[in-house]
Amino acid sequence: MKVKNICCIGAGYVGGPTMAVIAQKCPQIKVTVVDLNENRIAAWNHLDVNKIPIYEPNLSEIVAEARGRNLFFSTEVEKAIEEAEMIFISVNTPTKTYGVGKGMAADLKYIELCARQIARVAKNDKIVVEKSTLPVRTARAIKDILDNNGNGVQFQILSNPEFLAEGTAIQDLISPDRVLIGGDSTSEGQNAIQQLVAIYANWVPNDKILTTNVWSSELSKLTANAFLAQRVSSINAMSELCEKTGADVKEVAKAIGLDSRIGPKFLNASVGFGGSCFQKDILNLVYIAKSYGLNQVAEYWEQVVIMNDHQKHRFSKNIIKTLYDTVSGKKIAFLGWAFKKDTNDTRESAAIYVADDLLCEQAIISVFDPKVGLEQIQFDLNYLETRTESKNIEAVELANNPYEACNNAHAIAVLTEWDEFKTYDWQKIYDSMLKPAFVFDGRNLLEREVLEKIGFVYQAIGS
Ligand SMILES: NC(=O)c1ccc[n+]([C@@H]2O[C@H](COP(=O)([O-])OP(=O)(O)OC[C@H]3O[C@@H](n4cnc5c(N)ncnc54)[C@H](O)[C@@H]3O)[C@@H](O)[C@H]2O)c1
Repeated sequence: MKVKNICCIGAGYVGGPTMAVIAQKCPQIKVTVVDLNENRIAAWNHLDVNKIPIYEPNLSEIVAEARGRNLFFSTEVEKAIEEAEMIFISVNTPTKTYGVGKGMAADLKYIELCARQIARVAKNDKIVVEKSTLPVRTARAIKDILDNNGNGVQFQILSNPEFLAEGTAIQDLISPDRVLIGGDSTSEGQNAIQQLVAIYANWVPNDKILTTNVWSSELSKLTANAFLAQRVSSINAMSELCEKTGADVKEVAKAIGLDSRIGPKFLNASVGFGGSCFQKDILNLVYIAKSYGLNQVAEYWEQVVIMNDHQKHRFSKNIIKTLYDTVSGKKIAFLGWAFKKDTNDTRESAAIYVADDLLCEQAIISVFDPKVGLEQIQFDLNYLETRTESKNIEAVELANNPYEACNNAHAIAVLTEWDEFKTYDWQKIYDSMLKPAFVFDGRNLLEREVLEKIGFVYQAIGS
């Protein structure tokens, strides 16, 4: 069997960009991305390619090239499943909000629904690829469902976790550090692995395509995210100690990063990590460890999330304390709402939690983010259910530009490391603010010396 038709279930931050790149690199393969969310599919099909639902540098160009040629976005899930020889499952796997494992385990209901739908619809043999991040041994459950509900057709399950980072998704997909494919050791399993290897081999060098057993592949993804998040929490823990001791966390990070065993990446102290993955995947790891009775392992990793929460609240507490112990009725400008630069994704963004803390103290928040709109901001705050929707509308506004956000503000909080923030006319911003004018740089992005020379009271994380 040679794969000519691919279907991807889930047109989100992973499914959309990943399939766009596969379609671009494999023009001989028809790639159909399906989703239940009609609005999302309509946005992917928007005539103006700049209006597709996900912002990532260079994504719209790739979609423009491949869409309508061999890349299609559709809500006809069953038709796409039926046509495809290979089906990627790229649906969301959020933290459970109910029942056993609430607040920790991954909610696998969307995965199971996909498996049951594939089983029902499939009329010929298929390779099912787990693209979503899943607890180790999920492939077993998928296989059980497929084998017990299918029409007698053969399914092979592969694990092919996605390592892209939002903001650099296209670059990561085009030149990945590695592609990981896990499959069964049987000859059918090995054959399925080779079919997927053949797809990636269209643009990824062979020595970067790693094949393993399914369980190693599933667990590697959780492990990678746990290690990355742990590094952020480690430098953030040191940032608090730096503030107490007169050390400067940037200098410490540079000094340790030059050690080739440590390396310089992911050592920027900040208000904390956000995004849909790190926290959810670590909590899932903690839950898995606990379910095997490995309590020390669980507690070790849980601390990474505890430290991250502490860092966010510490940041907002510091703003309140510095503004003379009250922000009631004070305008605080937020520069950035996305969880990191170069994305419009706001899931678990530190900005949400800092805003929530400040709103509890009756602050007024004016947000400017180059890619995030008011509807999303209000959605994020309402989701916390800390106060009524009308209170959130009253207390949070969206500014059209940074100058409007900062005009008459008491303080600025930098919550996302967008490059353009460095290029603003900071003198003009200073002149328009109430004095003393404070900058709380949650991303260690701006130049202390420049801002202090203008007259700002400037506070970075960890110095
Ligand atoms: N976002 C990231 O940076 C990233 C990176 C690596 C891995 N992952 C993992 O990839 C998976 C997807 O993440 P995402 O950020 O793309 O999520 P997302 O929420 O952006 O997208 C998931 C999509 O799946 C759709 N969906 C859910 N059930 C469906 C069904 N039965 N049929 C059709 N469509 C359905 C939803 O409507 C949604 O549009 C998660 O497991 C995540 O952990 C995410």
